[in-house]
Amino acid sequence: MLKIYGKMKTTISLIKADIGSIGGHVKVHEKIMDMAREKLRKEHGKLLIDSYVTRCGDDLELLMTHTKGVNSEKIHKLAWDVFEEGAKIAKELGLYGAGQDLLSDAFSGNVRGMGPGIAEMEIEERPAEVVIAFMGDKTEASAFNLPLFEIFANPFNTAGLILDPKLHDGFKFEVHDVKGSRKIIFDTPEETYDLLSLIGLTDIYAIKRVYKKSGEIAAVASTEKVNLIAGRYVGKDDPCMLIRAQSGYPATGEVVEPFSKPFLIAGWMRGSHRGPLMPVSEKDANPTRFDGPPRIIGLSFSLKKGKLTGPVDLFSDVSFDEARRKANELAYYMRRHGPFQPHLLPPGEMEYTTLPQILKKLEDRFEKL
Ligand code: 13P
Ligand code: 13P
Ligand code: MG
Ligand code: MG
Repeated sequence: MLKIYGKMKTTISLIKADIGSIGGHVKVHEKIMDMAREKLRKEHGKLLIDSYVTRCGDDLELLMTHTKGVNSEKIHKLAWDVFEEGAKIAKELGLYGAGQDLLSDAFSGNVRGMGPGIAEMEIEERPAEVVIAFMGDKTEASAFNLPLFEIFANPFNTAGLILDPKLHDGFKFEVHDVKGSRKIIFDTPEETYDLLSLIGLTDIYAIKRVYKKSGEIAAVASTEKVNLIAGRYVGKDDPCMLIRAQSGYPATGEVVEPFSKPFLIAGWMRGSHRGPLMPVSEKDANPTRFDGPPRIIGLSFSLKKGKLTGPVDLFSDVSFDEARRKANELAYYMRRHGPFQPHLLPPGEMEYTTLPQILKKLEDRFEKL
């Protein structure tokens, strides 16, 4: 490959799937996590350099470092094998939703379009590389639009956009039209208003990547919509994302700052309700109240030649206690609406709905006004 003439590049692959959980859509089983850790560890020094396995609620998250580049068949196959083995354990234990996100029986070269969510970036490591992994449960692919905008384009969030000459030029946003299968790239701050007019429509547009103006990758998010792939309800596209921080990128503290003001996202209960996104530690990612409220965890790693040091469990910090309290308060307020919008999502966005059957049943009883 041509790459041998360049500097060594490291690829970070974060691949996730819900393959079954204990007691409802709540928690991945430790047995599945141990199997995943062991299977990935066996590849250290072979296919992988390093790995870290975690979960957010019922979603199993595989973070892997290697030199195979993004979309590597071998890496995706490894993740798929872990998910299949995990689904088998889930079936044996009678866990809920065993194999939920595995939409196909056979691996065909790439997990994209098969159910799992994927965030991958290939980077030339800086001397002190910082990579932050975010993982959400009971939410949707475009839930990261608002925080990504704040991190990379809002100087009220990211002081570095004004104070650091290396950030001052702004960033490029790659936005996907998840229904129309097309993409567009915006420059900020120049095209901020055009960017915002699309990414506020979270049912259609999702930020896929953010780049520095010089072209280096800054962030990548999973945008796979499982229900669009399957054409029926199969789970909620709980997303993951990777962000580089410090030294020419936003500081770690600027990257987590948007999550201190809980915002409303789609994906709560049956993928059909809006609720606040609550930042929590790894151990507190067990959404139970009305299957929620929706959760997000954030883990910060240092990286050297692909070796991971860490993570720091970012939202375990007591400074996020107030955000959690606020999210709980918002959760009570939203629940007050029961089956009414805006707690309930509009018809096209609900992942569970009886509306077509009810309309059909009532068809004859409707009279012209
Ligand atoms: P860097 O420019 O080295 O990323 O430092 C910024 C910082 O950490 C401020 O909080
Ligand atoms: P998951 O997508 O996390 O499996 O949640 C399903 C659901 O509808 C919970 O209410
Ligand atoms: Mg589930
Ligand atoms: Mg989930």
